[in-house]
Amino acid sequence: MVPSLLGFLTIAIAATSVLGHAVVKVPTPRGAGSYYTQRCGKTYAEYMEKDRAGPIEDGVAKAGADLKCNAFLCRGYQYEDNSATEYKPGQVIDFKVDLIAGHRPGYANVSIVDLANNKIIGSPLRSWDSYPNATATTPRSDINFNVTIPRNLGTVCSTGGKCAIQWYWYATRNQQTYESCVDFYVKS
Ligand SMILES: *[C@@H]1O[C@H](CO)[C@@H](O)[C@H](O)[C@H]1NC(C)=O
Ligand SMILES: *[C@@H]1O[C@H](CO)[C@@H](O)[C@H](O)[C@H]1NC(C)=O
Ligand SMILES: *[C@@H]1O[C@H](CO)[C@@H](O)[C@H](O)[C@H]1NC(C)=O
Repeated sequence: MVPSLLGFLTIAIAATSVLGHAVVKVPTPRGAGSYYTQRCGKTYAEYMEKDRAGPIEDGVAKAGADLKCNAFLCRGYQYEDNSATEYKPGQVIDFKVDLIAGHRPGYANVSIVDLANNKIIGSPLRSWDSYPNATATTPRSDINFNVTIPRNLGTVCSTGGKCAIQWYWYATRNQQTYESCVDFYVKS
């Protein structure tokens, strides 16, 4: 192979591998399990496990008609394979996002989701109009941040499986969605 062609191929491969890719690392987010495989389908579950930071759209495309769950709620992960952490109203929770590859433009937010109805409760705990932050300095505030558990949740999140804190990033140009869910319940 001539060197210039090899060089070209290397660049081409590098360029295509710079896709989105991010996942919450702290707190430990919802992960895979047998309910997930059963409810989302084997094709989706196996494909998404190859890259836990990969975009949802890729798995959806791969699975086609075999997809059985709502992949856009917690990336399809199921509460029954996981467990919830107790938080107190007003508690500050540190988040760390593993940002493997960033693409701009995009936006991100962190919200409490009513899981049964797939509805956001209240307003986002955090939101970024432009994500990742182009001018971020170390420690980066877009991947190291905290959220405060609202004091007015009442009983909507009183038991595990009712609510999750969902981190959501949509890379607009790539049309790729990244999500991680943290299961919790609140005891006042
Ligand atoms: C994040 O923001 C987008 C755009 O406003 C919205 O459609 C989406 O529902 C939000 N998601 C969460 C989990 O907050
Ligand atoms: C982006 O990062 C810079 C540098 O840390 C910070 O000053 C700015 O507030 C950040 N922007 C947002 C929207 O968080
Ligand atoms: C939460 O993050 C803010 C910056 O957004 C920082 O000022 C504050 O000290 C943090 N709180 C805790 C308890 O870590």
